[in-house]
Amino acid sequence: MKAAVIHEFGAVPRYEDFPDPVAGGGEVLVEVKAVAVENVDKAVAAGTHFAARHFLREFPAIVVFDGIGTLPDGTLVGFSQPRPPYGALAERTVVPVQNTTPAPEGIDPAIAVVISSAVTGFAIKTAAGFTPGETVLVQGATGVAGRLAVQVARLLGAARIVATGRDNDALDEVIGLGADAVINTAVEDDELVEAFAAEAGSGYDVVLDFLWGRPTELLLKALVPSRIGHPNPTRLIQAGESAGARIALTADSVRTSGLEVYGVGKGLDGQAVADAYGQIVQWTRDGKLVVGIERAPLADIETAWQRTDLRGRRLVVTP
Ligand SMILES: NC(=O)c1ccc[n+]([C@@H]2O[C@H](COP(=O)([O-])OP(=O)(O)OC[C@H]3O[C@@H](n4cnc5c(N)ncnc54)[C@H](OP(=O)(O)O)[C@@H]3O)[C@@H](O)[C@H]2O)c1
Repeated sequence: MKAAVIHEFGAVPRYEDFPDPVAGGGEVLVEVKAVAVENVDKAVAAGTHFAARHFLREFPAIVVFDGIGTLPDGTLVGFSQPRPPYGALAERTVVPVQNTTPAPEGIDPAIAVVISSAVTGFAIKTAAGFTPGETVLVQGATGVAGRLAVQVARLLGAARIVATGRDNDALDEVIGLGADAVINTAVEDDELVEAFAAEAGSGYDVVLDFLWGRPTELLLKALVPSRIGHPNPTRLIQAGESAGARIALTADSVRTSGLEVYGVGKGLDGQAVADAYGQIVQWTRDGKLVVGIERAPLADIETAWQRTDLRGRRLVVTP
């Protein structure tokens, strides 16, 4: 069969022949229909993700670890964690039977495989206890996860949504998805601190942060009050690091701002994920939640993997 194969960490996957998988005890073969390529998949293939050596135990190996496909009886399923060295980006793969779940009916598999990224948006509830009527800031809202998070915040009843990005055209699109105000982070530091303060309204109740790095450092600076008082808490959820893996955390940003920091995984247990995904599927069927995708055939993986022009659309490979 054909597959997207790497021979070492850091390599770009190539379209190559690979031995067909054979199902062992407790395993099932899957005919792959759609696979989304995310930043996490690139980090695993690069060997920089903490779980890289769990997924890629030997080389050559097939990249990416979840997708949608059909079982031998034709049932459409979502699947995850194929048996190494098999991966999702192939014509066929092999997974433990328990790693398959029914795929949503009535939704194009190429869309269904991407909307699961909207589960992260539910972290405003599960991690930070969001309640309708609150103000939400989405840092990195022009990306795929950010655009979905803006829509989730709107559908969950946020009173005000502020969204950040680096490109004004992309930010205009995010307004179309439900943001009330946008901030371009590609400005001088002082200007960005002022913009965060100016758009805060009565304060950011919840921040869903896909950026970290410089924009988050400057946000925390903006949260420090200019006089003694009792600031409203800002519950910040760390969800990604597109702008950097580190920030300098100044003492006053914790001591005086009412800042609380949570990891995105807090409270997102199996049941919460299943509930969130069910809601996401319903919103998608109803046309209330939209996602941009860029399709590519498996044969084009080498070029598609290296694309940097997707602007908020997710690469979906359809073998
Ligand atoms: N995919 C998911 O479901 C998911 C779930 C949880 C966490 N995450 C993490 O969240 C982050 C974003 O994921 P994604 O899938 O939405 O990625 P994406 O589509 O590539 O979007 C990346 C976002 O970060 C911005 N960005 C990139 N580099 C930047 C920089 N140097 N300075 C400031 N902004 C920068 C991008 O702005 P431009 O639009 O201007 O490029 C865009 O808003 C990643 O760290 C990812 O691992 C993703």
